[in-house]
Amino acid sequence: VGIAEEAAAAAQDLEGLRAALAAFEGCELKRGAKSLVFCDGDPAARVMIIGEAPGREEDQQGKPFVGRAGRLLDRMFAAIGLGRDRPGTEALYITNILPWRPPHNRDPNADEIAMMLPFIRRHVDLVDPELVIPMGNISCQGLLGRRGITRLRGTWTEALGRPALPMLHPAYLLRNPAAKRESWADLLALQARLRGDGKE
Ligand code: URA
Repeated sequence: VGIAEEAAAAAQDLEGLRAALAAFEGCELKRGAKSLVFCDGDPAARVMIIGEAPGREEDQQGKPFVGRAGRLLDRMFAAIGLGRDRPGTEALYITNILPWRPPHNRDPNADEIAMMLPFIRRHVDLVDPELVIPMGNISCQGLLGRRGITRLRGTWTEALGRPALPMLHPAYLLRNPAAKRESWADLLALQARLRGDGKE
């Protein structure tokens, strides 16, 4: 992890961080992946979404959240007026805990998450968002050091020194459509916070 710390700390801007990841040889996942999936959206956004890891479509296109779960994510955030590149919406910035697709979309393991954490920490510092959304269990494990998204979701907490609202992963919502009710409550909480009428 020392080498990851050093590589991440040396990056002076987002392009530098992308290059540091491209040159990083400390994570096995890189060998099985086609693309480095770094980010999408606007680095000036107030909200930074941090997902888990690329899937097949993300690996093919080199962009986060472009598969089925990603399309649901876009619809969810569009419903509160946020989008990654839609005119007339407030900007979003999107990345993942892991920049490489795990083989067969298996869950990344604790070592892989720990290895890549210095990069996501630096990523958050460079983007400097006002609010962070840890999306799903793996992201909560990395950013909050805790799993249990169904308990963590919907309550404002802190991740990497910023206010954070853990949310249910859209891939989970595709499997459990009834949970969209909770997600909608969380989206409204985010919207309230952005408007400045949140209580916390
Ligand atoms: N799921 C994620 O967590 N991230 C992606 O980029 C795609 C699917």
